[in-house]
Amino acid sequence: MKKILIINGPNLNMLGIREPDIYGHETYDDLVKLIKDHAEKIGVEVDFVQSNHEGHIVDEIQLAYFQKFDGIVINPGAYTHTSIAILDALKTVNIPTIEVHISDVSKREDFRQISYVRLVAKKSIIGHGLQGYLEALDELAK
Ligand code: DQA
Repeated sequence: MKKILIINGPNLNMLGIREPDIYGHETYDDLVKLIKDHAEKIGVEVDFVQSNHEGHIVDEIQLAYFQKFDGIVINPGAYTHTSIAILDALKTVNIPTIEVHISDVSKREDFRQISYVRLVAKKSIIGHGLQGYLEALDELAK
């Protein structure tokens, strides 16, 4: 069974509270349940990390190498647009990675148009809401 790590960056623990007009009314716990149910249906094992701290995300990506994860689904939140450290960590572990954004960042502010993670991601799923995480799982399960 494939082992997939789902990483959510800063402020994604505040889903349901944060800007619901952009990110919706479902909470982080709802997201975890949605992904767990889907993972069970398609027969993959999932593990979750949510952190508001860049270095912690880097640590967890490195750990994914030693724990032999087969894939990573990452929504780095605002670190998408700033973090070379997260890009380098993903390059280091060389685990197939899919980038997910709940909102359609391509239609938002200029500062959201850069994605460092995109440079290493197999695919970027943008603006599909929470469903985007399930699409990413399907892709990595192939
Ligand atoms: C986000 C988009 C980012 O620009 C933002 O900083 C987030 C969430 C999204 O899922 O749409 O925190 O990654």
